Amino acid sequence: MRVLLVYYTGTYNTRYLTDRLARELTERGHSVERTEIDAFAPIADTSDCDVIGFGYPIYGFNSPLPFNRYVDKLDIRAGQKFFIYKNSGETFAMNNASSRILLRRMRRKKAVFAGEYHFVMPYNIHFAFDTDFVREILEKDGKLLKILAHDLESGCAPEIKSNAAYNIASAAISIQKVGGAVNSFFYRADDRCVKCGLCAKNCPEGNIKIIEGSVKFGHRCDMCMRCSFFCPTDAIHIGFLQNWKVNGDYRLAKLEAMGAPEKPYITAESRGFYSCFKKHFDEIDRRYAELFGKN
Ligand SMILES: Cc1cc2nc3c(=O)[nH]c(=O)nc-3n(C[C@H](O)[C@H](O)[C@H](O)COP(=O)(O)O)c2cc1C
Ligand code: SF4
Ligand code: SF4
Repeated sequence: MRVLLVYYTGTYNTRYLTDRLARELTERGHSVERTEIDAFAPIADTSDCDVIGFGYPIYGFNSPLPFNRYVDKLDIRAGQKFFIYKNSGETFAMNNASSRILLRRMRRKKAVFAGEYHFVMPYNIHFAFDTDFVREILEKDGKLLKILAHDLESGCAPEIKSNAAYNIASAAISIQKVGGAVNSFFYRADDRCVKCGLCAKNCPEGNIKIIEGSVKFGHRCDMCMRCSFFCPTDAIHIGFLQNWKVNGDYRLAKLEAMGAPEKPYITAESRGFYSCFKKHFDEIDRRYAELFGKN
């Protein structure tokens, strides 16, 4: 198969998943092209791929706006096969509605659905996940990637079911429409800034400039968190979301290489926020054992 992976990423969790997926597919003999969406990305050529994989991080129970805008410009022919690999920090059922805009567009173009997969990845906002939790997440993601690759080859196309209530709530919560533009008025770098230029170099919107030695934020902000997440001195203030800021690279490749933690992080005793992961991880383990005969 010739596979085209089209994805948006803020803090590189989706890029990391895309790297792993590309590796998995290449090892199985498929050819993989990839396009990372940002304000400067050319429109990908979809004419000679067999299947398109759409990757995105969930933002407020939705797909990111720049992702939606980019997909709108893609040339999708009737009968084009596509699948979705989305990710987010938790597995609340509301997240099931996040692909509703993409699915509607693909239906209009008469594209053919080839599966939807929800990966957990560590939060880049709200709070930082523990190292052992991230190790467990990455182990489950590895299994889900193998399931995805197997499904693509066998033609199995699992759906993630949403419902009218989730769809309405997800549309209502679409925080990005005004959020990025308004919140960006309150972005600033404080005196911990060492003028390294990393934020300006990496902003996917080209929204940050260093002018006469000081960092200036414009109003084309996706709320992707890349600037504040990777700032080496944690100097960036992110307006209304300041109390939810996460600063610091999770070093995913290193944690992946360490494998699952010695003791399971999520168990039947997990409570509160952590309780939602049990069912999700059990389902991955179940399907993995069914397909590959081991856990
Ligand atoms: C503005 C914003 C909104 C988010 N909303 C959600 C959400 O509704 N549900 C969730 O589980 N995670 C949410 N997250 C967390 C991200 O989906 C998650 O950390 C993801 O792995 C980030 O991927 P990336 O590094 O490719 O951008 C949000 C993150 C941001 C920046
Ligand atoms: S990444 Fe941080 S330290 Fe570097 S220029 Fe931007 S605000 Fe300053
Ligand atoms: S200003 Fe920061 S949060 Fe906004 S798009 Fe650029 S990197 Fe992302």
